[in-house]
Amino acid sequence: MNPADIKSVLYTTAQIEERVGELAARISVDYRGEKLIVVGVLKGASIFMADLIRKIDPEVDIVLDFVVVSSYGSAAASSGVVSIKKDLDCDIAGCNVLIVEDILDTGLTLKSLMENLRARGPKSLEVAVLLRKDLGNEPVLKPKYLGMETPNEFLVGYGLDYDERYRSLPYIGILDERVYQ
Ligand code: PRP
Repeated sequence: MNPADIKSVLYTTAQIEERVGELAARISVDYRGEKLIVVGVLKGASIFMADLIRKIDPEVDIVLDFVVVSSYGSAAASSGVVSIKKDLDCDIAGCNVLIVEDILDTGLTLKSLMENLRARGPKSLEVAVLLRKDLGNEPVLKPKYLGMETPNEFLVGYGLDYDERYRSLPYIGILDERVYQ
């Protein structure tokens, strides 16, 4: 990758690690002694999820699962419904479920996924999101565990991509407009 593709670093590796640790500490307290199904939304959430779960106290009995949802086109954006391309392996009825996402932009993906999972009768259903873009309006949903509120920029790194690239960067950067214009 060309280092000039990144206009500036928004969050350093150390800043991310500190915030992820704070979220993990809260989750550890909230679910101590309980079973928790942690659901990662691929692919963007993979890096955040891997770091988050390793910081959660082992007294939380964690089970991992993953979903893949469709990127919404204009039709889905207007309906607010995303389709599930890869569903959960486990039955979440009666279980504590924590959805892990890298970023909330419009919030449509998560809102639709939550409605889908809530219909399966979990004991509890919460969300951990690393980043939420400040779009200047009332957010569609307010995650219980939120890392950082970000400016409305094109962000890459730590799981976030542009055209499948930059996910492996250990920091979160603002992509230079030159790359996508
Ligand atoms: C990104 C991100 C969320 C969604 C957020 O996923 O990981 O799932 O977009 O957007 P929204 O709040 O406007 O719905 P993307 O479709 O880019 O797939 P990826 O996770 O594979 O990068």
